[in-house]
Amino acid sequence: MRGIVFTADGVEITDDLSVRDPGPKEVKVRIVAAGVCHSDLSVIDGTIPFPPPVVLGHEGAGVVEEVGSEVRSVKPGDHVVIATLASCGTCRACSTGHPTWCRHSLGNIGTPFTYKGEPAYNFAAASVFTESTVVTEVQAVRIPNDVPLTSACLIGCGVLTGVGAVLNRARVRPGETAAVFGVGGVGLNVIQGLRISGATRIIAVDTVAAKEALGRQFGATDFVNATDGDAAEAVRALLPPDRERASGALNPTGGVAWAFDCVGHPAVLRSALDSLDWGGNAVAIGIPPRGTEVPVDVNSLAYVDRGLLGCRYGSARPHHDIPLIIDLYKSGQLLLDELVSLTRPLAAFDEVVAEMHAGRVARGVLTLG
Ligand SMILES: NC(=O)c1ccc[n+]([C@@H]2O[C@H](COP(=O)([O-])OP(=O)(O)OC[C@H]3O[C@@H](n4cnc5c(N)ncnc54)[C@H](O)[C@@H]3O)[C@@H](O)[C@H]2O)c1
Ligand SMILES: [Zn+2]
Ligand SMILES: [Zn+2]
Repeated sequence: MRGIVFTADGVEITDDLSVRDPGPKEVKVRIVAAGVCHSDLSVIDGTIPFPPPVVLGHEGAGVVEEVGSEVRSVKPGDHVVIATLASCGTCRACSTGHPTWCRHSLGNIGTPFTYKGEPAYNFAAASVFTESTVVTEVQAVRIPNDVPLTSACLIGCGVLTGVGAVLNRARVRPGETAAVFGVGGVGLNVIQGLRISGATRIIAVDTVAAKEALGRQFGATDFVNATDGDAAEAVRALLPPDRERASGALNPTGGVAWAFDCVGHPAVLRSALDSLDWGGNAVAIGIPPRGTEVPVDVNSLAYVDRGLLGCRYGSARPHHDIPLIIDLYKSGQLLLDELVSLTRPLAAFDEVVAEMHAGRVARGVLTLG
């Protein structure tokens, strides 16, 4: 079958893939559409180290093809979004509604594929840049048949990650303020999560001027072009302190309650921290190379209740959050179709990547079949 494989020699678009049958608690899904997330590009450029050969793609949706003998929640023909958390369902983390903390949900790399006859790894327990994949039952989340799969696929990473960071991790309240660094597939979903939460100022920050219109379409109230100078200073200038006293280099007042790094660069995370008002929190979503550190003056946090949080996969509970996202979409509150800037066949992967690098897309979607 066809697919995109990252090998020791680079990216190969191949016809020489196969996938094994599902085990008793597994589901085989025919992939219809897959979004290209920056994390796929990070495997290719080495930012996210991963053993080759690996079948890329982790933001996908499709139709159930075959189920194992013990599978009860889906049947052949059902439309599903694939969640990347192969969580166990029985540990303390799973039992308290935190599948992103489940030890089974990270690093459980398998080899359900063969590439040119040799075992090939799955990526993010998913691998959706191929005609069919095999996932655990808990990862196949059923959705209504009337949601276009070319839009639904984006829920599998970008939407869950962005909206979830706001609703689950930050729990932003009405009237709060935020800055969103990086107006890509994840950042746009942080922006619309903030709008849905009732944030009153949503400052989008990007290095590409054309991202202003996209950001505003999803709910941004302001835009800062990070190439124009110090982005944190520009954010603070938009939300000046209501009283000038008790300022100073470490503890300036003014700025946002929440700052989301949706880029994955240490300078950006530092900017996010520097744009916080007293009591504000920065949320690290972007994934820089392993070992990346960000210098922070601890007093700038400890004196005035500032904080730094990490957020994996929107701290999502896929079987709760995916139906919620569908409900928000159907009621017109969450934009999904508008995230799809271009749709191309698998063979045009390079074109989609080039458009992403040029900052011309919200998301690019690959179609199979
Ligand atoms: N924590 C998680 O679970 C999780 C999930 C998905 C993606 N990610 C990570 O999130 C990051 C974003 O992913 P994406 O798919 O949205 O990427 P993307 O390529 O769609 O968007 C990135 C955006 O950042 C902008 N940008 C680049 N440098 C910038 C800078 N210095 N200042 C401001 N903006 C800048 C780009 O112009 C682009 O608009 C990646 O690091 C990805 O690996 C993390
Ligand atoms: Zn992703
Ligand atoms: Zn578990």
